[in-house]
Amino acid sequence: MTSTRVLVVEDSPTLSAVYGSYLANEPYQLSFAENGSDAIELIKNNPPKLLILDLNLPDMDGMGILQYIHEHQIPTVVVVLTAHGSVDLAVEAMKFGAFDFISKPVEAKRLQITLRNAGNNHELKEIVDIFKERYERERYHGFIGSSPAMQSVYHIIENAAPSQATVFVTGESGTGKELCAEALHKQSPRSEKEFVALNCAAIPKELMESEIFGHVKGAFTGASKDRDGAATIANGGTLFLDELCEMDMELQSKILRFIQTGTFQKVGSSKLEKVNVRFVCATNKDPLREVQEGRFREDLYYRLHVIPIQLPALRERGSDILKIASKLLINISNEENKAFKKFSEPVNKIFLNYFWPGNIRQLENVIRNLVVLNNGGVVLPSMLPPPLNQENESCVIQSIVAHERAMPTTDNSAAVEQHHDVTPLWLVEKDAIEETVRFCDGNIPKAAALLEVSPSTIYRKKQTWDELEAKTL
Ligand SMILES: Nc1ncnc2c1ncn2[C@@H]1O[C@H](COP(=O)(O)OP(=O)(O)OP(=O)(O)O)[C@@H](O)[C@H]1O
Ligand SMILES: [Mg+2]
Repeated sequence: MTSTRVLVVEDSPTLSAVYGSYLANEPYQLSFAENGSDAIELIKNNPPKLLILDLNLPDMDGMGILQYIHEHQIPTVVVVLTAHGSVDLAVEAMKFGAFDFISKPVEAKRLQITLRNAGNNHELKEIVDIFKERYERERYHGFIGSSPAMQSVYHIIENAAPSQATVFVTGESGTGKELCAEALHKQSPRSEKEFVALNCAAIPKELMESEIFGHVKGAFTGASKDRDGAATIANGGTLFLDELCEMDMELQSKILRFIQTGTFQKVGSSKLEKVNVRFVCATNKDPLREVQEGRFREDLYYRLHVIPIQLPALRERGSDILKIASKLLINISNEENKAFKKFSEPVNKIFLNYFWPGNIRQLENVIRNLVVLNNGGVVLPSMLPPPLNQENESCVIQSIVAHERAMPTTDNSAAVEQHHDVTPLWLVEKDAIEETVRFCDGNIPKAAALLEVSPSTIYRKKQTWDELEAKTL
């Protein structure tokens, strides 16, 4: 075990020697300073755990040293030595964070016990700090939230970040999967290099291979010059494959080879290139189900599914909802030049009880909507957009279903109704989405914004409808 470092700041060499002899049998490594500037130099360069501080120094008041430690939040525990009778000064020192004081002349036993207590205090402080850092984090990189569910996410990110192992992030839409991938990168030793995100749902299938691996001039029509792909740009850094389950099966086998060997060929080239990238991937589908249903390669799944991180839905994060909402309110109010500072209690209650199907992305949209359309300092329930402004939100869901049932059914839904009494939820959702897309003249990003989901969610859903319809026909 290493011995505790103790600095004795005392202008009298005789007294320093006396203190040294008192502490000779204690587990301390002593060093000495005879004046204030030497002491500060030593503290600055290598702060001791414990400091014995005489307040009467030739070049400065010992209180200045205490202040220095206090202001710079140096984790040194200070025991002050005071001349007989100057208790007021000692009290003053305690205000600046001194742990204890001893009146001169100092007795051996008193010095030993005080230092032992100070040492214990230091250790406890360290334990509390570590505990706080590990279990009471209010924020972590871009994340806001201190719920137990998020603490365990932070913990996994922290442990996984230094490794090369692939991380597989799952979670509902808008739960922060991309934020998680960014946090992994920033926390990792690769943070100085590039973080490259590729959205497998947003890039057309034919372009995807070239996006990942790059291409050479003339590889296909329009390839007018050589171009690096994400794999090359992310060399030494992190490659984030977002919406991974949307990747084409053929490309999945190329990716598998790339992951296994670290090598790839640019489109149109036979030259093998080698890079060192860390893979992080994300999906809001159930990847195992995708494997079982033959849409995702099993071998690729097991290659990638090394460290899973499941992001909890917003409704599972308790009062994190209010912390995130408050931060968003301040930020968005500033951006929009509005004066909103907080939510009224009834609004907090509504937020805590709402289901948040679109998670944090939906919360962002709700707050942006109310800030833009209203004025004031406090957010009231009447300012909330639907369905949050309804008294009972389950009534809203029921009313949507009732509305859908009352609407003339399409051929498909009629076919389904013959088998079931209730319209399947996917069909209710499909109708609602298609109606919004029609309302937006076929503009999917616009419809997605109104529905408070990402465009890729709509594209993804469109694909599953085709499959579901094929099954019901
Ligand atoms: N814990 C959090 N605190 C604050 N902001 C957050 C948190 N989690 C996510 N966000 C914000 O919410 C938005 C959605 O996050 P992100 O894009 O990472 O989610 P996602 O899971 O990838 O969504 P999708 O499935 O729709 O692609 C972003 O603006 C992000 O900054
Ligand atoms: Mg995403």
